[in-house]
Amino acid sequence: MMKRISLLEIAHDIVGSYIEPADIALDATLGNGHDTVFLARSVGTDGHVFGFDIQPQALIKSFQRLLQHDLQRRVTLRLASHADMLSHIPKQWYGRVRAVMFNLGYLPGADKAVITQIDSTLAALDSASVLLAPRAVITVLAYPGHAGGDLETEQLVAWCRQLDRTCFTSEVVLSSHDKPSAPRLFVIRKQADLL
Ligand SMILES: C[S@@+](CC[C@H](N)C(=O)[O-])C[C@H]1O[C@@H](n2cnc3c(N)ncnc32)[C@H](O)[C@@H]1O
Repeated sequence: MMKRISLLEIAHDIVGSYIEPADIALDATLGNGHDTVFLARSVGTDGHVFGFDIQPQALIKSFQRLLQHDLQRRVTLRLASHADMLSHIPKQWYGRVRAVMFNLGYLPGADKAVITQIDSTLAALDSASVLLAPRAVITVLAYPGHAGGDLETEQLVAWCRQLDRTCFTSEVVLSSHDKPSAPRLFVIRKQADLL
């Protein structure tokens, strides 16, 4: 039987192909900490991960997950909106971040009314693109089937269109469920050889 690969697995594969030991990476939406654990493993002992969420329980869950894997020393967790990421990242890391992961929507198992909002998501993407190193990647897993997720996804398409094509490329990976409401993965790549 053919194995169905999830968009999350694809996101991990793509991000994993960019990250090298001692890199810096960001998890813009901590949630239950799965992506943070993946990023912390990928950057190795000399790398670092910054993670953001606006819900205390997301930080608690993520920290517990990191502890289980003894990865907590590689990660700084912030109870803050990703829209404010620039004020939480040390200035010496600007232009040195290898990967930023967003997984939009709500925290599974928590209040579904607390979801990512388009204004803060776009502000965070603007900040993330400032922080990126040459040869770096942003992934955004979006859910047009959720309340508000359709508009958020449309705005993401528009945000990708306005990117400077001399520095960035973007693509959308669709899920194997061929429906307009199915999740999709935005992949924004910053080129390596910028002058
Ligand atoms: C789908 S979950 C993320 C799943 C997570 N990446 C994982 O591996 O478990 C989305 C998360 O985004 C968070 N969120 C919503 N608005 C946010 C914001 N402005 N800044 C940071 N996180 C936000 C929610 O609280 C929720 O925990």
